[in-house]
Amino acid sequence: MFAQVVSRYGGFDAVEYREVGEPVPGPGEIRVRVAYVAVNAIEWKILAGSVAELLPQTFPVVLGNEVSGVVDHVGDGEHDLRVGDRVTGFVRGGGDAEYVLTTPDRVAVVPDGLSLRRAATIPQGVETARRAIRELGVEDGETVLVNGAAGSIGSAAVQLLVDRGVVVIGTARPDNHEYLRGLGAIPIEYGTRLLDQLAAAAPKGVDRALDCGSRGFVRQILPVVPADRVITVADFEAQALGVPITMGAGPHELYADSFRDVLPLAARGRFATEIAAEFPLSELTAAWKMNEDGHFRGKIVVKVAQLD
Ligand SMILES: NC(=O)c1ccc[n+]([C@@H]2O[C@H](COP(=O)([O-])OP(=O)(O)OC[C@H]3O[C@@H](n4cnc5c(N)ncnc54)[C@H](OP(=O)(O)O)[C@@H]3O)[C@@H](O)[C@H]2O)c1
Repeated sequence: MFAQVVSRYGGFDAVEYREVGEPVPGPGEIRVRVAYVAVNAIEWKILAGSVAELLPQTFPVVLGNEVSGVVDHVGDGEHDLRVGDRVTGFVRGGGDAEYVLTTPDRVAVVPDGLSLRRAATIPQGVETARRAIRELGVEDGETVLVNGAAGSIGSAAVQLLVDRGVVVIGTARPDNHEYLRGLGAIPIEYGTRLLDQLAAAAPKGVDRALDCGSRGFVRQILPVVPADRVITVADFEAQALGVPITMGAGPHELYADSFRDVLPLAARGRFATEIAAEFPLSELTAAWKMNEDGHFRGKIVVKVAQLD
């Protein structure tokens, strides 16, 4: 099979699209023929070596931890999956390939009415947004500021919070403000105009702040929101300011229970992650580059095969 193989820490020249052996399922594992792999920032951060302490790698390695596809081997153990089921969910690396191994508890069956392309965009954004909202302690009726609200985690957080009746103020560049309004948030800009626009949008202030965009937001918001009411998903410097960073502890602890119930909502059009762009697997590094550049809406997907 073909895969994108990372041979060492470095730049995109350390990634090669080449043939490798198909993965062989071990006890308790299932194998998925990959349709789409969703791009996450952690992949180019791993390549660059910037998270080497947190997620050490043994090279050569195939990255990619969020896929959709079709089950092609069910293994043993108790579960309801069948060969041919359309699924989406988490894998423990190896997703940037035609076949990947995972366990039944990490994937959920994709309901009719939801394409594998759209299904690939849901697991990570929903899991992270839910975890951050829970750890932040958001209560119904509150007003919450979401930084980076047009991204995959940010837009999931906006939709989950609005659904609970929480008033959401979301930051994005002006091009994305109409999009945020469509999700039910009050849009404001990030950067130098943040605090002025926040004061206008929420004269009584906000109860809590959820940072999905990083880039100095935590330091900027602390004069108006106390540290114990702020959480970040991405800013490793926040802890020094007394603000927690929520960590999924890598792909090993991500399960389908964290997003399964959102799939039927997505099938009925009541939840959506925008697809900013699609690349073929052979052009994976172009997808990583677009993700690294950082200004896109929702999720970038990589197509491996047309399976539905
Ligand atoms: N802690 C965890 O468990 C966990 C899990 C998964 C991912 N992450 C991390 O979470 C972060 C967000 O991931 P993601 O997939 O949602 O999206 P992402 O790819 O990092 O971000 C895309 C969004 O960031 C926004 N953005 C760009 N510059 C910004 C700025 N200066 N201020 C605020 N927003 C800005 C963009 O909006 P505009 O187009 O409007 O600029 C874009 O919509 C990443 O750093 C990722 O590594 C953490």
